[in-house]
Parts: sequence; C-alpha cells; structure tokens
Amino acid sequence: MHYEKKRVLSGMRPTGPLHLGHYVGALDNWKKMADEYDCYFMVADWHALTTEYEEPARISSWIKELFLDFLSAGLDPEKSVLFVQSDIKEHAELTLLLGMLTPLSWLERVPTYKEQKQQLVNKDLSTYGFLGYPLLQTADIIIYNADRVPVGQDQLPHLELAREIVRRFNYLYGTYFTEPEGLLSPAPKLPGIDGRKMSKSYDNAIYLKDSPEEIMKKINQMVTDPARVRRNDKGHPEVCSVYSYQEIFNTDQKEEIAEGCRTASIGCRDCKKQLFERIWQELEPVQKKRKELQNNMDFVNEVREQGKKKALQRAEKTIRDVHRLMGLL
Ligand code: TRP
Ligand code: SF4
Repeated sequence: MHYEKKRVLSGMRPTGPLHLGHYVGALDNWKKMADEYDCYFMVADWHALTTEYEEPARISSWIKELFLDFLSAGLDPEKSVLFVQSDIKEHAELTLLLGMLTPLSWLERVPTYKEQKQQLVNKDLSTYGFLGYPLLQTADIIIYNADRVPVGQDQLPHLELAREIVRRFNYLYGTYFTEPEGLLSPAPKLPGIDGRKMSKSYDNAIYLKDSPEEIMKKINQMVTDPARVRRNDKGHPEVCSVYSYQEIFNTDQKEEIAEGCRTASIGCRDCKKQLFERIWQELEPVQKKRKELQNNMDFVNEVREQGKKKALQRAEKTIRDVHRLMGLL
C-alpha cells in the first residue's frame, strides 16, 4: 500500500547559544520525529531579524552556530531537510503575496505581538516586519504544505492565524494549501536555575556548551525545597526545581528519588550529583560531536547546501502553483 508520510516543519530563531530548554523542548523532540514524518527543520534567521534589526551583523554567526547545534544534537541530514530560511527566497515572495489577502486586524490581534512589544522595552518593535512575524511564519509552514508544526504553547496563536490565512487563500483562489496543526512538545517545561522560565535574558540557563564544571556549579546553585534545611528534614519534590529536572533527565530513577526526598533517605547533595551525571551523560556526546563538526566545516557547509537544494525544490513548486492559482502567469 502506498502511503505518504505526513510532513513536519519547524524552526528556531538564531539569537544566541542554545540552552537545555531548547534541547528538551525542541531539538530532542524533533529528533524523535524524523522517522515518522517527512521533516523540514529550519534556522529562522529572518525571524531573528524582526527583533535584532539594529544589530543584524550578529545574526550571521548565530546562524552558523545554530546549524552546528542542529547537527550536534543529533538531527540527521539523511532523514530530515535541514536548511536556513533566508537561503530560500521563495519564503519572502509567498509572505508578500499572502500579505495582500491578510487583514491587518488579524495580525494586530495576535497575542505575542502585543506582549512582546510591551516586554521588549529596549527595542522598538512598532515595525511592519515585526507585525508580519506570524505571516512570515505562515509562509514558512505552508510553502512546504506541512501538516504538523511542533512548537511551544506560545506559538499556537501563530498556527491559528496560519490556518485562517490558508482558508482565505483556498476560498479566494481554489483549495491548495493544507491547514497546519500545532504539535505541542510532550516534554514538560524546564525551569531555569532560579526557578523562573529558562531564558538567556534571566541569566539562569544551562547551555549546551557549558563545561562539566559550569554545569555542576549551576546545579549547585539551584533552589531546592526550602523545607529541607538540615539533611534529615523531609522534602517535597514537587516544589523543587532539581526534581523537575530529574523528571526529564532521570526518568528511570525519578520515583526512587522522590521517595528518598520525602523520607529524607537521600540528601540534596546526592540528588544534585545524580542529576549532574544524567545531564552530562546527555551533553557529553553532543559536545563531542560539535567539536568533530567544527573540524569538518566542509561537511557542515555541504549539509546546508543539500538542505537548500531539497527545500528549494518544494518551495519553487509551491510558488509556481500559487502563480497559476492566482492567475499571475
Ligand atoms: N516563531 C518560532 C519561535 O519563535 C520560530 C519559527 C519561525 C517557526 N518559523 C517557524 C516555528 C515555522 C515553526 C514553524 O519559536
Ligand atoms: Fe530537591 Fe532532590 Fe533535595 Fe528533594 S532531595 S529537595 S528533590 S534536591
């Protein structure tokens, strides 16, 4: 029986070094999708430009870093198409064409637009480019006719918008695009070492490139259950950040640890040491792979070139079809 795999597309903005939150929430999850789906994973450099336009030169080194991170974290270029958004100019043309039929009010009411504009106070985001962020994202997705889009919770409104735009296009020019669906990452959110959301701007992240010493130091700084002042005080793993990491990195021992914490049979020091072992077990091969790749940049560049070729094939076909449907021949 002939059956076609569903297509997946996702992207990440190159805005600096990756941390464990990116790894658990996205890369590790993407890696697991590569067999089941026809996957496209992209470095979304134009999306980075919407907020970094005052210092755009930094983006180009971040693109290279992120592309290396994709490969070091284990995304396999034989199984997925790995590419850079700006290598495929067709995304820009589709964004422009979709812009003609997208009501301004649809963009203005996207919650991330208002929130980010208010939160990122040191940036002037009253720009056309930033308002168009989710429209560009729509083009990214539908130019490959992706069915599924693995994203975080905050991106779901962008997918809602993408579906609305697809419906409008299909209504105006004939059914062509698939309505994409968001796929939430199954991994629970990872807090930063201070218990808040893990983020570069809070300076509370564990980075993929951190040395074992740095990682141990950061784990030691993590807040534990304040009820455990002395070694034999009983604890509550559910309020402890260290435990939320154990749940992700130490799945086969997490029950044992929770029990040990509740009965004070293990101390926070040992608990943290165990966590360190697990995190390092995960990151050591990633760092090793990264070093190998850095010594073999010809290979990395070739992967980017191949990804570009494969992505371009589909994107060009979509643009041709769109021209035909819209009567722009
Ligand atoms: N906006 C996404 C984020 O911040 C990144 C992104 C760009 C993306 N284009 C995409 C995600 C297309 C999914 C599909 O996480
Ligand atoms: Fe947290 Fe572990 Fe200490 Fe319990 S034993 S409070 S889970 S660090």
